[in-house]
Amino acid sequence: MSMPAPGPTVFVLFGATGDLAKRLVLPAFYGLFQQGLLPKKWLLVGNGRGDVSHEDFRKHVHDVLTQFGPKPEEPDWDKFAGHLRFAGGGFTTQSPGSLLDVIAEATKALADEPQYVHYLAVPPVAFAELTKALGQHNLAKDSRVVYEKPFGTSQQAFRELDRAVHSVLDEKQVYRIDHFLGKEATQDLHVLRFANGLFSGMWDSQHIESVQIDVPERLGVTDRSVFYDATGAVLDMLVTHLVQVTAEIAMEPPASLGADDLQSAREKVISSFRKLDPAEVVLGQFTGYRDVPGVHPKSQQNTFVAARLWIDDARWRGVPFYLRTGKRLAATKQQVSVILRKPGGPLADHVPDEANALCFSLAGDGEIDLTLVAKKPGVGLMLDNAKTALPLATLHDADPLPPYVRLIHDVLIGDRSLFTRPDGLAAVWEVADPLLTNPPAVVPYAPGSWGPAEARALIAPGRWLLGD
Ligand code: BG6
Repeated sequence: MSMPAPGPTVFVLFGATGDLAKRLVLPAFYGLFQQGLLPKKWLLVGNGRGDVSHEDFRKHVHDVLTQFGPKPEEPDWDKFAGHLRFAGGGFTTQSPGSLLDVIAEATKALADEPQYVHYLAVPPVAFAELTKALGQHNLAKDSRVVYEKPFGTSQQAFRELDRAVHSVLDEKQVYRIDHFLGKEATQDLHVLRFANGLFSGMWDSQHIESVQIDVPERLGVTDRSVFYDATGAVLDMLVTHLVQVTAEIAMEPPASLGADDLQSAREKVISSFRKLDPAEVVLGQFTGYRDVPGVHPKSQQNTFVAARLWIDDARWRGVPFYLRTGKRLAATKQQVSVILRKPGGPLADHVPDEANALCFSLAGDGEIDLTLVAKKPGVGLMLDNAKTALPLATLHDADPLPPYVRLIHDVLIGDRSLFTRPDGLAAVWEVADPLLTNPPAVVPYAPGSWGPAEARALIAPGRWLLGD
């Protein structure tokens, strides 16, 4: 399908010297540049409180890319650096710092009528004030504004933020990022299903026994402990990435894969998710978490969550969706497993449990795995599990994009299909509310394990396919 080229753009990066910009946004921007996906005419204006010169900002970006990649190399780097500006002095409703002047200069330098993209790479508590400041200083009109996750921290906080955003912006201008939606394999969740007769007919409770969305991480929280201790696994991962991936799997077929239809289908199904029952959720904290510098010595924050989620619609009634994620676990993986029911008939008693599964690895470039039962070649009838793997990067002419590259490109061309919407998010916060207001006790677990034993009990008599 053909893709429109983005028009001239002034890209304003709020929080330009912060952690998120460093690790994700600036590397993605350089990636877009290297792939030739930026507009012919563009400028990036970093914003922050400090008084940083254009030249020092360029040096900062060079250091960032040297550390986090893609490595800045000549002649690319020199060309890229020429597009970078910095506007210091912060940006609030009270004072725009030097941003308005730098944007005016940038607009003049482009000698064209650019579109404006404002990327809020700042902590969620700063979203409302920054949005108001955009309105106050006349930067909101016709611009696109990108928000990081989580968009809200509770039902109440979501409603307030939503009101603040819509008092300044029309919904069409708003891009709420959930980078799991930009992963190559996440997009294959709907493509595989709608493009293949093999799968389109089996996507329901009659054929599917259960679904697992499992994102264990070996990593701890050392370099972002203050943020993490205020957030926890439930807000950081469960009500954001894991719920959005669940919606990708569970949605009804959209009328088309156009942006509005796809977004509507994904957001709509969330309103059929049953409210999370705290009795069907396990929260954990790894031993030693409270000794991490920056973590409160008596912190009750969860670093692990496993939940059973039900979807009360005709397609999914009775099919449990098991969601699990946590820090300092036994492995780093991102796997969606669709586990098929055992067929009746002559082999019913011989087929092992969970032998037939369609799995999506969301990490990296993505992979699709199909596990089947087959006859072991040879005399007699011996059944065996056979696995076939399709790494997506091996498809002919594949050009996999990291999620932030993909999503920022979508912002530049105005495609909102992989971004979340307020109706869906309102439903997410409603589903999460019982858990947030009445959470179960946080259970300790050993670093390097698969989390608390209670998570094993939650899924019994089944098992977590990645390990438990
Ligand atoms: C982020 C979370 O959104 O996603 C992190 O804040 C998590 O805690 C990360 O580690 C995982 O995603 P990825 O795809 O960047 O490994």
